[in-house]
Amino acid sequence: MTDLTTHGAHGSEPTRPGHLPVADVPHVLRVADTDPKAAKRVERQVSSMFLLSILLVVAFVVAYIGIDKSTVVYIPVFGEVGASTIALGLTFGASVLLIGAGAIQWAKKLMPDVEVVQMRHELVSPADETAEAAANYERGKEESGFARYKMIRRTMIGAMALFPIPLVIMLRDLWSSPVSGTLSPAEILSTTIWKKGERIVTDATYLPVRPEDLPVGGLVSAVPASLQEVQHLEGNLNARGKAAIILVRMDPDEIVSQQGDGWDYQGILAYSKICTHVGCPIALYEQRTHHLLCPCHQSTFDLANSGNVVFGPAARNMPQLPIGVDSEGYLIAMDDFSEPIGPSFWERSK
Ligand code: FES
Repeated sequence: MTDLTTHGAHGSEPTRPGHLPVADVPHVLRVADTDPKAAKRVERQVSSMFLLSILLVVAFVVAYIGIDKSTVVYIPVFGEVGASTIALGLTFGASVLLIGAGAIQWAKKLMPDVEVVQMRHELVSPADETAEAAANYERGKEESGFARYKMIRRTMIGAMALFPIPLVIMLRDLWSSPVSGTLSPAEILSTTIWKKGERIVTDATYLPVRPEDLPVGGLVSAVPASLQEVQHLEGNLNARGKAAIILVRMDPDEIVSQQGDGWDYQGILAYSKICTHVGCPIALYEQRTHHLLCPCHQSTFDLANSGNVVFGPAARNMPQLPIGVDSEGYLIAMDDFSEPIGPSFWERSK
């Protein structure tokens, strides 16, 4: 059984037997309840918010198409930031905010602020209760003004209809961008900035690494030295993410296999740091077993045996980077990775 008892806009009603009591708070009528002009004013306010939200979505689309992704602007405190990022963030954020603000204003100023007790027993209602619910729905529709305030209704529907557009447009970036052009994911992940002779330096501090810096059982997170020169450029985060590696050292006799002959240097092995499952960075290394454990979904790779997967959802071994030393005794890459780094989702389309 469903029953409704309301107090408020229509005055307090005595509590009837079988009904839950409702605190008998005197209802204070709002300006918009008694003054049609005030109600009209609120209607215009709410409609303006929804309308502005629509215009901001249009501005989002224009900014997405029109602003060059490499354009930067200076903002105090934040420094140099991408103009496109700022424009997209502000327009989309303000658009969502205005939909929310409009809905709140509508609910607070125009919808009835009555107290309702709803008693329910069964989940499946008999026909007469279904009819009653339909009648209640119609009454709610009437009282909320959804039918009456046409301007609000139309602008809100317009705002809600345009709201998903930015989300759909941004999906495009999952496939290609000005950085990746029209390359497929496999092609994007197939090359990094590693090349023959590129010095291996520690991540963040950019210090070149000598073999003697790394004891047996040790692990170092590292990147290519040239990353320091491009770190201020557009796309440097992609370059960093793709080139990140870990260096581990083990007794050369413990190495069972590698992805290429002599790709280690005196027991020092370099592997991509990006998990081949869905791309989490990994640096959890167990010295005794030579296992590298991904914290995201527990994929485990055996670094003493070609980086093969020994446990977990990853379907591909960790790509290995061939390394050596230069004339000054610093560790260098002998080539780029021989296979794509990171997630292997692109393989499924083959
Ligand atoms: S991302 Fe590493 S196991 Fe899922």
